[in-house]
Amino acid sequence: MRVLIAYLSYSGNTQEVAELIKEDCRHHNFIVDIHRIGIDAPVKPSDYDYIFLGTFTWGEGTTPDEVKDFILEIGYKPNNIAVFGTGDTQFGGDEQFCLAVDKLVKFYNSPWRGLKIEQSPRGSQEKLIFQWLGGVFNHVTNFA
Ligand SMILES: Cc1cc2nc3c(=O)[nH]c(=O)nc-3n(C[C@H](O)[C@H](O)[C@H](O)COP(=O)(O)O)c2cc1C
Repeated sequence: MRVLIAYLSYSGNTQEVAELIKEDCRHHNFIVDIHRIGIDAPVKPSDYDYIFLGTFTWGEGTTPDEVKDFILEIGYKPNNIAVFGTGDTQFGGDEQFCLAVDKLVKFYNSPWRGLKIEQSPRGSQEKLIFQWLGGVFNHVTNFA
């Protein structure tokens, strides 16, 4: 199983989620490539069985420009994109919490619900990530 984790992170929260996803995937012997959006060389999405796309949410529920550029760079809508993100309910409350995640799930018509984490995932929210991954890899043999 070959997995791409592409993410954008300014202050490290979304990166922490990406790293936990990476650890769990490697633990299950998947091959994992990391793509730091806006930094690393372009990727070839068709090389991957699963693509994890991670973003924070910006002013009033906005998707960051770098993520929009990444979407254009991909140039089509792969059907194997799982979306995760971090946000903060202090900005706009529940309505705008991780809204970029909802927007990307809809845009890609993702088969999986988006994963939303409030700021840093370390601690009690870590289990939300592993539960969510269990759902994404639901039909993969031996993934528990
Ligand atoms: C100017 C500004 C606007 C923000 N707007 C939102 C928002 O609308 N919704 C949300 O859930 N989080 C919002 N946030 C919170 C960030 O998405 C959150 O801190 C996120 O974890 C940052 O990710 P990063 O550490 O990977 O950069 C905002 C943060 C800043 C600084």
